[in-house]
Amino acid sequence: MNSSASNPPPFRLIGVVGSGAMGRGIAQLFAQAGIGVRLHDANPTALSSALAALGESFAKLVDKGRLAPEAAQRARASLEAVDSLDALAGCELIVEAIVEQLDAKRELFQALEPIVGDEAVLATNTSSLSVTAIAARCRAPARVAGLHFFNPVASMKVVEIVRAVRTDEAVVERLVALVRATGHRPVVARDTPGFIVNHAGRAYGTEALAALGEGVADFETIDRVLREQVSFDGNGFRLGPFELLDLTALDVSQPVMESIYRQFFDEPRFRPSVLGAQRLAAGLLGRKTGEGFYRYDARGARTDVQAEPAAPAAAVRPPVWIAPGPRAALVASTARALGAVVREAEAPGEHELVLVAPLGLDASAASRAGAAGVDLPAERLVAIDTLFPIEPGRCRRRVLMATPATRAEYRDAAHALFASDGVAVTMLRDSPGFVAQRVVAMIVSIGSEIAQQRIASPADIDAAVRAGLGYPLGPLAMGDAIGAATVCEILDNLHALTGDPRYRIGGWLRRRAQLRLSLLHED
Ligand SMILES: NC(=O)c1ccc[n+]([C@@H]2O[C@H](COP(=O)([O-])OP(=O)(O)OC[C@H]3O[C@@H](n4cnc5c(N)ncnc54)[C@H](O)[C@@H]3O)[C@@H](O)[C@H]2O)c1
Repeated sequence: MNSSASNPPPFRLIGVVGSGAMGRGIAQLFAQAGIGVRLHDANPTALSSALAALGESFAKLVDKGRLAPEAAQRARASLEAVDSLDALAGCELIVEAIVEQLDAKRELFQALEPIVGDEAVLATNTSSLSVTAIAARCRAPARVAGLHFFNPVASMKVVEIVRAVRTDEAVVERLVALVRATGHRPVVARDTPGFIVNHAGRAYGTEALAALGEGVADFETIDRVLREQVSFDGNGFRLGPFELLDLTALDVSQPVMESIYRQFFDEPRFRPSVLGAQRLAAGLLGRKTGEGFYRYDARGARTDVQAEPAAPAAAVRPPVWIAPGPRAALVASTARALGAVVREAEAPGEHELVLVAPLGLDASAASRAGAAGVDLPAERLVAIDTLFPIEPGRCRRRVLMATPATRAEYRDAAHALFASDGVAVTMLRDSPGFVAQRVVAMIVSIGSEIAQQRIASPADIDAAVRAGLGYPLGPLAMGDAIGAATVCEILDNLHALTGDPRYRIGGWLRRRAQLRLSLLHED
């Protein structure tokens, strides 16, 4: 598996079947890598429009100076449209990107087997079907693998090579070398629902939808929190989960959420939301229909943007008492830097604002945990999320939550205090794990499960997620940045408080937390 972009590609002639959005992108990538491509589509109109689009695409790359005119000429010349499957004889690899239907893909590979040579490899670009099931009807299933590109093919620089149950290892290695030769990053996955990227991507939207369903906050607030609070050395999520659902469109995302959940036999970590199903039924698909969670104009720009409500002007600025714990010093120094009088005492005084910094607990549970076994006064208690930086100058948003018993003047006093340096503040309803803690902990948990099940190597999991989902870090590096023990504390408390088995911790994560090993550590 040592070939690099400078080595000759392991296939000289590749057949691409299906010339839609994916097939034409795949054909272009191979042609630009200097490989001969025969492109076929059952629909001649689709094929000719794909050819026209490819011609335009090469011309644009030349115009923008991203491709030399001679290279474009060579790529164009190495691409041939063919009107029958028979014309694919002689291809050493076939990549199919036809309609996403099991029977259609099985029939295509069965039809191709007698046409192509015995040594030819058959690869499917399926996103959601079992590669093993597609291969099962072939005479020689060992030569069938998944070769899963992302859309748009040129700019999504990662490709999943999917090893089905009977795939020959040499086939996997040749596909790895091929992907390297195109300049994309190959990652190898076992044939399991969602492979790596669509499996690892289940946490972000699903957990955000769960928080929305539980009434923690409205969707726009949840988007703001995940976009602006989460920060790994200044990098976070570029889009909130609901913005992302609108971009992908719910008629694509909701079936994926449901299918992965079902394919893993109702694994609670992937449990989809009733809200998603209802919004899909209502036709609120997202940007492409003008309305999803948000509203859009014909160019896809939001038409419903509203300024966030201003922070309340607090009538009182009570002294602050901070519950002891590993994060108390950080909360104290931040509160002092914002001008609060912080009282150091064993127990809170009578009129003090009580601050807690729970991990995986809600504010109410944190009030019962109490200092030295004493319950804290819930009516004066506010929780602050310290999972990401809260210090002045180091954060864009601070996230608080109050108990149902917290009095409005104390809630407002905490809000005003933490907004006093101009940083945005979100006040959530009381809920275990705020928003960011539960979402990020679930990303780490699911990424760790992918490693535990040996679906892919830790390095490939993280590389695939960074490139395929655009996260600032892969799920395992994310867990390392937060600390595996902290992730476990969040999940254990979520599990204990909710009783929901979605939060149970798998072996990979638990063991590495116990042994203080990196989540990227293999055994
Ligand atoms: N669109 C994406 O974001 C994306 C990403 C990754 C993988 N995929 C997968 O790639 C495949 C293609 O997706 P797409 O978005 O390009 O679809 P598409 O609808 O744009 O194109 C499919 C093309 O295949 C042709 N076709 C259908 N049945 C055929 C057959 N039996 N023989 C020959 N040609 C046939 C159609 O005429 C059409 O031109 C699917 O399996 C899909 O799940 C799609």
